[in-house]
Amino acid sequence: MKVRKAAFPAAGLGTRFLPATKAQPKEMLPLVDKPLIQYAVEEAIDSGIDNIIIITGRGKNAIEDHFDVSFELEKILEQRGETELLAIVKDISDMINLSYVRQKEALGIGHALLTARELIGDQPFACFLGDDIIDSDIPCTRQLLNVFYEKQHPVVAIEEVDPEKVSSYGIIAGKEVGDGLYEITDMIEKPSREEAPTNLAIIGRYILTPDLFEMLEQVGKDAKGEIQLTNGLKLLLKQRPIFGYKFRGTRYDAGNKLGFLKATVEFALKRKDLGESFRKYLLSLKLQ
Ligand code: G1P
Repeated sequence: MKVRKAAFPAAGLGTRFLPATKAQPKEMLPLVDKPLIQYAVEEAIDSGIDNIIIITGRGKNAIEDHFDVSFELEKILEQRGETELLAIVKDISDMINLSYVRQKEALGIGHALLTARELIGDQPFACFLGDDIIDSDIPCTRQLLNVFYEKQHPVVAIEEVDPEKVSSYGIIAGKEVGDGLYEITDMIEKPSREEAPTNLAIIGRYILTPDLFEMLEQVGKDAKGEIQLTNGLKLLLKQRPIFGYKFRGTRYDAGNKLGFLKATVEFALKRKDLGESFRKYLLSLKLQ
């Protein structure tokens, strides 16, 4: 069955970027000149997804406005003959079919997915956590879908992380059954370094199946009062295989300040219109 839909949990409060996120969703912070969420939406489109469900919360209206038609702006750009800018603005609203559902309280990614259950329906779907920005030749989600179409079981993106950082991630244990492909035997959300079975971390791209929803209903809230996707998947593991795939590409954790800065520098260096002058500027800094 073709995966047509993607869920984007986007109700988080963005406390790591305060005060910038006091009156603006963190998903709208720009990497160079494009909001974070647009990178993930473009990855979804390039992976063959044709329906995106964004799970929003209070104060997130700017996301809806961003992907909507902006009559006034389009008219002004047209009058001024700014054809290139006009095309950029129009392309965004023409991009893809988007729906929105409100998560009334930020109770975790698992809870966000349950909120979108009706819209997702009884079919496999992709899940994107927009803090993870992935730069790759083949879109990360496309890579996961290739595994999904072969195995017909859920697939999560994984990456080796510094053992000191395991407590920031969902961590898997598994046996390698192919090139970069692991059949998962266990998973644990944000373990201490001692508890972590490996340093293979789940990155924010998933291909999920609708039987996950039952599991999310069952797991209930964790100590923080959140329904964790990792815990739902761990329960599902008792019923069917789940795979982890070491995707090819570079991941930036744009959800923290250092990761955001690194992504900004690297994306700016890659830009045709900016790269050369930005490189010159960086070289002139004479850093030691
Ligand atoms: C979430 C997930 C975690 C995953 C991480 C990837 O954590 O709960 O399992 O490893 O995303 O970025 P968060 O970053 O929301 O704390």
